[in-house]
Amino acid sequence: MKHSRILILAVLAAVVSCQGRKTTTVGSTPETEQRIERLLSRMTLAEKIGQMNQLSGGGDVANYAEAIRNGQVGSILNEVDPQKVNEFQRISVEESRLGIPLLIARDVIHGFHTVFPIPLGLAATFDPDLVEQGARMAALEATAQGVRWTFSPMLDIARDPRWGRIAEGSGEDTYLDARMAEAMVYGYQGRQPDTTSMAACIKHFVGYGAAEGGRDYNSTFLTERQLRNVYLPPFQAAVEAGAMTLMTSFNDNDGVPSTGNTFVVKDILRGEWGFDGLVVTDWNSMGEMIVHGFGTDRKDVARKALEAGVDMDMMTYGFLSHLEELVKTGAVKEAAIDDAVRNILRVKFVLGLFEHPYVDAGKAAAVQYAPDHLAAAQRSAEESAILLKNDGVLPLKADAVRSILVTGPMADAPHDQLGTWAFDGEKSHTVTPLKALQERFPGKVTYVPGLRYSREKRDSFQDVVAAARRADVVLVFLGEEAILSGEAHALADLNMKGSQSELLAALKAAGKPVVATVMAGRPLTIERDLPNCNAMLYAFHPGTMGGPALTNLLFGDVNPSGKTPITFLRTVGQAPLYYSHNMTGRPYNGETLLDDIGMEAGQTSLGNTSYYLDYGAYPLFPFGYGLSYTQFAYSGITLDKAVYGPEDEIRVSLTLANTGDCDGTEVVQVYIRDLVGSITRPVKELKAFQRVTLKAGESRNLTLTVPVSDLAFYGLDGVKKVESGDFQLWVAGDSASGDPVSFQVE
Ligand code: GLC
Repeated sequence: MKHSRILILAVLAAVVSCQGRKTTTVGSTPETEQRIERLLSRMTLAEKIGQMNQLSGGGDVANYAEAIRNGQVGSILNEVDPQKVNEFQRISVEESRLGIPLLIARDVIHGFHTVFPIPLGLAATFDPDLVEQGARMAALEATAQGVRWTFSPMLDIARDPRWGRIAEGSGEDTYLDARMAEAMVYGYQGRQPDTTSMAACIKHFVGYGAAEGGRDYNSTFLTERQLRNVYLPPFQAAVEAGAMTLMTSFNDNDGVPSTGNTFVVKDILRGEWGFDGLVVTDWNSMGEMIVHGFGTDRKDVARKALEAGVDMDMMTYGFLSHLEELVKTGAVKEAAIDDAVRNILRVKFVLGLFEHPYVDAGKAAAVQYAPDHLAAAQRSAEESAILLKNDGVLPLKADAVRSILVTGPMADAPHDQLGTWAFDGEKSHTVTPLKALQERFPGKVTYVPGLRYSREKRDSFQDVVAAARRADVVLVFLGEEAILSGEAHALADLNMKGSQSELLAALKAAGKPVVATVMAGRPLTIERDLPNCNAMLYAFHPGTMGGPALTNLLFGDVNPSGKTPITFLRTVGQAPLYYSHNMTGRPYNGETLLDDIGMEAGQTSLGNTSYYLDYGAYPLFPFGYGLSYTQFAYSGITLDKAVYGPEDEIRVSLTLANTGDCDGTEVVQVYIRDLVGSITRPVKELKAFQRVTLKAGESRNLTLTVPVSDLAFYGLDGVKKVESGDFQLWVAGDSASGDPVSFQVE
């Protein structure tokens, strides 16, 4: 009953919006729509189906020439040689019957040749403008080589750091994820389409990051309400930002694989949101529906994917092999194929591919690694690093340091520093911390690796310890190689691998200041390592310019401002643990832990709250956390009203003071809790944030705003609305700090 009511509302909304809408969600125009109809009317069924087929390139053009010439290919992924792209396009445009250009795609996930920090690191900047700038530069580099479609941004909310693809997304929070999604869509596609526009692909639709156990590709069991309140909003924000394409995910949610999930693709994405861009499967995710046990054979799953609203098939060849027969037998209507082809042609027209199918191969090289791209990558790496601990040893004083020991498996790892999904990053261009420090401090740097890679085991570190004793300061770079995060790379143990913790302990015992920098694709469990260093900087995988960025941070040229986009656990056994959890009926409040329990403890239950006897239920570091070399004080937090109407805007004012002795940037965060609802609500949710840079001693009066409509959620009746009642609001530098102020919504 509920679904049908939503569906009726959705269809009505879609009809109204279609009639009223001047352009489509992907920026088409009435003229473009007419061009689509004219071209479609000339296409044979086979040519229509050919547009729905994507092939992986990378081989000789000759291998694909006949299929392209016969109109059997709509898109090619994994070809980035501009000459070969032009040859592919020439065959399609000049030798096929209708001359429809190809859509050339690539996973440009966090930079093309100039590699930016992994998306989890970019999220730690809380700087959408900078992230948009980086995505724009990635588009400039990739489109110069003929790539006009990227399979990015990944919007999967992830709350279990065992999941390797946590590296590729924006972490645990819906609001931050949505802001990053918008930034990347605008960056890739440009604010106005032109030949440097690269179609964004929002993925993986939907719920993929909630894989049970954090094991990639595993099933998810998200309710419709959880989907609508937590996992879908970033996708909707990206659609509203004009995202041209979307990719369905591998996982089955509540028993339905996304590539055949009519409810989320056709009813919500198409029906409710009016998305008329291109929906592509993930790599063979159509074929995997057979493995899931959701279809009997390729013909069956091809039909199910088409019925769900999928337009293009990545590497199953299900559409190419079976759609014609399915139409001829009446199992599928050609009108459904027409709709899919309209979506594909719409993206190709909006991108201007019919007018400009070719690239100027001679100009491609000049765009790569442009100085401003490298500068933006460095700034992104600087802003993405999170200062987790500092006993005062940082910032180091360059003129006071005579000898520096650089050690650790990530000190000079030019490939791994780039992180996962950096296909086109070239390690020859990576500036590692070792190289940057040697350049800045010629003759002062001693390098003793200690460990050749993160998983190496050693019994002793005499060489490194001896070198440490001779140095003024030890800079140790730890973490994990790129291969240990990303797709299919879940970890059950999040402690630092190999003998890294032992290396750190040995360095600490040497008696000199030890500064640890961690490069990883996820939040590792580092509680046991913190006592063995005077300071810790968490850099995720910082990309091409990680070395200069980290050098600037360690020596105070740049003050760290990164904030945790994901909760840092004390131990992997706490997963999943995230700040915007529900209250439960027995919230943990820090009581009894294992060490407090006497030997003769009886059978009476302990604590009576939701926690672990051995680790409690508080994280090591909460969401939104990060230190600075200076200190910030929040005062005078006031609301402009005590009672708000549903159409109002909440205006929260405060004074932020930099009470330390150096300039710095704080990420001011606004969290709100709905105390009582028709369903239980999270203990708090991020609703606004702002980066504020203050000089030492400076104070500034700030006002941040939150539309009351942003407090809306899908309640017990399945309808999205703001429920009146009592609320609390925090303004702080992380999700665990600050005292709430109260307000009401009438
Ligand atoms: C992969 C990933 C997806 C990627 C696609 C093409 O399996 O799941 O994110 O875009 O295949 O490389």
